[in-house]
Amino acid sequence: MFAKFALPLLSISALAGSAIAAPFNPKTQSLARRYQSFDNWGGISSFDGFDNFYGEDNFSGVVSSQVVVEQQEEVVCQSLSIEIVQQRLLVLQEMARQIITEQICEVETQTVVFQQFVSSCSQFSSDLLRTSGRQVGYDSNIVSNFGNFYNSDGSLSTSDFGFSGSDAGQSLIVPSGNNWDSSSSLHQSVVLSMPLLALPPALLPVPR
Ligand SMILES: *[C@@H]1O[C@H](CO)[C@@H](O)[C@H](O)[C@H]1NC(C)=O
Repeated sequence: MFAKFALPLLSISALAGSAIAAPFNPKTQSLARRYQSFDNWGGISSFDGFDNFYGEDNFSGVVSSQVVVEQQEEVVCQSLSIEIVQQRLLVLQEMARQIITEQICEVETQTVVFQQFVSSCSQFSSDLLRTSGRQVGYDSNIVSNFGNFYNSDGSLSTSDFGFSGSDAGQSLIVPSGNNWDSSSSLHQSVVLSMPLLALPPALLPVPR
């Protein structure tokens, strides 16, 4: 089966390479156009219902609406040692690897769903740089499922968390205390140019 789909897989990977580099825009980039639907793609059953999560033609689940949660107390960022942060992000990355390798058996589906994850994540770059028009925060309802990830024996849970991709952003927490200042071009140029100049051009977020 793998040989049969090797060619489509290759072309997906080539397209997906650019999804890593920039936020995936289904209107201008061709993955969603060329593959209107991944439902049951290639007759592979693990693709069944793929499009239900974000909707057809919405490969990377570009968040279009956000609902900010009324908070009792403001959530404020705190400055920690960067290694503490890097450790947690690596945990999330390794968990993604675990889910994809333990809960999907077809390489085709593993590849496509991982690229969906990467291009969906990459939208956050343009949120951070305030070029997306979206607020910069996270969905507290979705985060709250973290505690249900593992069974008590340490294996990955297989339960249905009961949400869909379209729920992302509907319970938004927007932490304050960061140094973004929309009225200050100095801050903007510091934030935009200094750290990003160190990145290879291919990794720079593209403003919409
Ligand atoms: C695409 O998915 C995102 C995230 O789930 C959702 O907010 C948005 O409404 C969806 N867009 C369409 C056109 O379905």
